[in-house]
Amino acid sequence: MSKTVIIYSFHTQKSKKVAEKVIEAFGTENIQAVNAEELTSDVFEENDNFILSAPTWFDGELPNYWDEFVPELEEMDLKNKTFAVFGLGDQKGYPENYCDAIGILVEILESCGANIVGKIPAEGYTFESSRAQRGNMFVGLPLDQENQGKLTAERVTKWVAQLKNEMK
Ligand SMILES: Cc1cc2nc3c(=O)[nH]c(=O)nc-3n(C[C@H](O)[C@H](O)[C@H](O)COP(=O)(O)O)c2cc1C
Repeated sequence: MSKTVIIYSFHTQKSKKVAEKVIEAFGTENIQAVNAEELTSDVFEENDNFILSAPTWFDGELPNYWDEFVPELEEMDLKNKTFAVFGLGDQKGYPENYCDAIGILVEILESCGANIVGKIPAEGYTFESSRAQRGNMFVGLPLDQENQGKLTAERVTKWVAQLKNEMK
């Protein structure tokens, strides 16, 4: 498997902590961290495997740092590149938009031809609707530090093991 790039905001508290868990589970020598707030298109051109952190903000939207990069992202050719997306959300506070940002980002990546991995069964969460859900699956890994923080470590470990099988 070639080196994986993980992209998250270095200025968040919760997403940063979870991203560090992902890095630890992956093995630091196999993964390179990039700050989502200083992202350039070279990062996507020069690498093949990516893990993106997309917490949901503003009632079902991407955080500002992703929103600002979306116009550039939409123009990219991401064929033969593999992406997995995780995202923090709050299923009790925002049950109608739970982890929507995962779904928004995955839809954009798919429109650029990217291969999406790290899909998991939509079980063990309580919410009304989510753009991250398709049928009985989530298109990435939703995490909820507000209501299910105790499950995060186990969810991350399991997901990273899945990614190691699914990424080339
Ligand atoms: C103003 C605001 C809006 C939010 N909107 C949503 C939402 O629509 N859906 C959701 O699942 N979580 C929502 N959340 C919860 C955040 O995604 C959650 O707190 C997450 O842990 C934030 O991660 P971060 O601080 O690392 O960016 C919102 C939080 C705030 C403060």
